[in-house]
Amino acid sequence: MPAPRIKSPRLLLAESGADRAGHGLKRTMGLFQLVCFGVGAIVGTGIFVGLSDSVAQAGPAVVVSFVLAAITCVLTAFAFAELGGAIPVSGSSYSFAYAGLGETTAFLVGWCLLLEYGVSVSAVAVGWSQYVNELLHSLTGLQLPAALSAGPGDGGMVNLPAVVVIALASLLLVRGVRESARATAAMAVLKLAVLVAFCAIGFTAFKHGHLTPFSPAGLGGIGAGTTAAFFSYIGFDAITTAGEEAKNPRRDIPVAILVCIGLVTLLYCAVALAAIGAIGGKEVAGRPAALSYVVNAVTGSSVGGAVIAFGAVVAIASVVLAVMYGQTRILMSMSRDGLVPRVFEKVSPKTSTPVAGTLIVGAVFALPAAFASLDAVVNLCTIGTLATMAAVNVAVIALRRREPGLGRSFRVPLYPLVPLLGVACCLYLMYETGRQTWIQFAAFLAAGLLLYVLYGRRNSRLAARAGAVTEAAGPTASVAVTEAAGSTAPVAVTVPGLAGEPLTPDAAGARPPTA
Ligand code: ALA
Repeated sequence: MPAPRIKSPRLLLAESGADRAGHGLKRTMGLFQLVCFGVGAIVGTGIFVGLSDSVAQAGPAVVVSFVLAAITCVLTAFAFAELGGAIPVSGSSYSFAYAGLGETTAFLVGWCLLLEYGVSVSAVAVGWSQYVNELLHSLTGLQLPAALSAGPGDGGMVNLPAVVVIALASLLLVRGVRESARATAAMAVLKLAVLVAFCAIGFTAFKHGHLTPFSPAGLGGIGAGTTAAFFSYIGFDAITTAGEEAKNPRRDIPVAILVCIGLVTLLYCAVALAAIGAIGGKEVAGRPAALSYVVNAVTGSSVGGAVIAFGAVVAIASVVLAVMYGQTRILMSMSRDGLVPRVFEKVSPKTSTPVAGTLIVGAVFALPAAFASLDAVVNLCTIGTLATMAAVNVAVIALRRREPGLGRSFRVPLYPLVPLLGVACCLYLMYETGRQTWIQFAAFLAAGLLLYVLYGRRNSRLAARAGAVTEAAGPTASVAVTEAAGSTAPVAVTVPGLAGEPLTPDAAGARPPTA
């Protein structure tokens, strides 16, 4: 069996230019922007649309479900924080898996990230469309016709608002990260304000009696509720995709991840308690636009509901923006490695953004947005995300063993207990997604493996480097790439079985094209 192709963290940093100034992307994001970016990626459809589904499963014990989902995320957030601080490159879980677990696993992780980022862009855009209609109805009494605001699965023909929000997000991202980060920050602050206002209104009508029975469906309900609630947390890892655009990634990325998880957990529990405490779990369960309904019921007017619908429109739009951003950066990293076509790595010198990659991502994921329904993709998105999170926990363990001297600005506490618990929690929630989802996921992974064998493995730049050295120095050569521009430390390309000649990055094709 061939040895795994593993890429050292130093090479990942050298290729991305993360250790020096003057690389393709601009460093514009401080801690505040990173936290806003995280909140922008996390808080959206899950709380505004999905809360009523989680409550339908768990009842008032949905609060426990939120905490359990948060614990899974926090355990894994430690892993993201350690790796995001040590290897601040755009590829997120994909790059961490490349360094820790090898190329095949990295490709599959990147493939699963298409579920977490790309497919969720489509799904979230569909949720956005529902709230646009809700807002329109609150303000004017009119609605878009179903034929133009829902896909065939939901009784329509094409979901135009979903396509429009993806097109707008693509244009904003093409314009440049500064504009995008500003827009994301403004939207994040606004949606936090809307949810805090919701809690303030909901708690004025709080009745303890609405919390009993606390767990009508028992532990099974809490477990199912946890899997449903998990969707509301998806996106926290998107912060690590901003590694090449953060001003001080080693310090700010770990802090931003943990701050985001803590903040949204408090917020979600407060929102759930306020909603259930105000009108009771049975009233919330399965209700469309539940938050608007609660506010209307408490205030006796439809104005509050319209404000909440506006908040949902803004919140969900910012999720589309942040998640699309993450998808383009992950594809950029995979492209640099030769595992996907080179068009995804090209950065425009004019805007400092991957223009072509962004437009392709927008066009591709606008298609399912136009024709799919939210429910059809949420479970697939959840299982794919959990699989990548499990891989990141394993990568932490692998890298601690292989790269003990790696500069880590943050270290997972209680190692190795915390990453092992992280893997266990991810596997449990994956199990809870059900048989149908597992079958779809297995088919998706098989397709990914086929693509890797047919394209990625053959075009891998890491393999090309190893091949060049093998030809030059024979099969016993080791590979040491000296980073000419920047760090003077040698950069090891870890290719087990090879030993010997130094190789310059240019000769190895290590520098990505920037235009
Ligand atoms: N966590 C994201 C949302 O809830 C996917 O919209």
